[in-house]
Amino acid sequence: IHLVETADLNKKEIEFILDEAKKFINFNKKRVKKSNLLEGRTVFNLFFEDSTRTRTSFEVAAKRLGADLINVAVKDSSINKGETLLDTMTTINSMNPDVLIVRHPEEGISKRISMNVDACVINAGDGSHEHPTQALLDALTIKKKFKKFENLKIAICGDILHSRVARSNIEILSTLGSNINVIGPKTLIPKDIKKKRVKIFYNMKEGLKECDIVMMLRIQKERIVGSHTPNEKEYFKKFGLDYKKLYYANKKAFVMHPGPMNRGVEIDSRLADDITRSLIQEQVTMGVAIRMACLEILINNRDSYVN
Ligand code: NCD
Repeated sequence: IHLVETADLNKKEIEFILDEAKKFINFNKKRVKKSNLLEGRTVFNLFFEDSTRTRTSFEVAAKRLGADLINVAVKDSSINKGETLLDTMTTINSMNPDVLIVRHPEEGISKRISMNVDACVINAGDGSHEHPTQALLDALTIKKKFKKFENLKIAICGDILHSRVARSNIEILSTLGSNINVIGPKTLIPKDIKKKRVKIFYNMKEGLKECDIVMMLRIQKERIVGSHTPNEKEYFKKFGLDYKKLYYANKKAFVMHPGPMNRGVEIDSRLADDITRSLIQEQVTMGVAIRMACLEILINNRDSYVN
């Protein structure tokens, strides 16, 4: 009854979430976007890190399903008065919420919270660890375009080491049967990726070969400690995706990026805006549908346990 780690989901469960989300794609194109599926339910957004897409799309998703969503301004909360995070969570839990959506810089914090509250917890990003709904929305975007996952080759490029998006995507997409090429500078690739369907490359030309999708990631400057961040110009030359490097991939390869983009660092601005190649805006649209599905499934599931 929580969504905190992608490894908790098997193939069937992932496919079920994607199928549920599919129903909401057309719903979200209607003129009036309001359903009463989650009427009277209470959802809290608790974001201890910056966010544009994830926070607002959870809010849109909850409201379109008729739930009441409360955005907690954590920057103004009693955390500043010395209250621990778990105390804040148990306080909110005492208001009988149905779902807590949590983003926080500490790895594993969503899991810890989930063990201390009655509400369903959705991990909206815990440090460099996981971001399950991002990987699910990426999978939905891919499914819509390719109708399958088997025999697809997907490149995930850039700062893999600090990326929760990469970690969750590797798990979900390999579970669904795709092959993954991880590409980036040695310093930004973790040493411990040893998964059946994953191959590691340190240059774009080799790594992009025969890829159907090229997923670009931002350098997570805020998480790089100790060693210095790469020089942006040099980085773009070696690892930034432009039309020239995209040419190494399959002829009809599509470009993805979870956002926020740093134009001219990991991705060429013109390519990012090229709707014949880029799925970046489609990812955002799929994000709302996925989050509606996750909220609905978690709450229905919990209803069958709790009376
Ligand atoms: C990402 C995140 O916050 O993990 N963005 C997102 O949720 N769409 C990626 C990033 O910050 O680079």
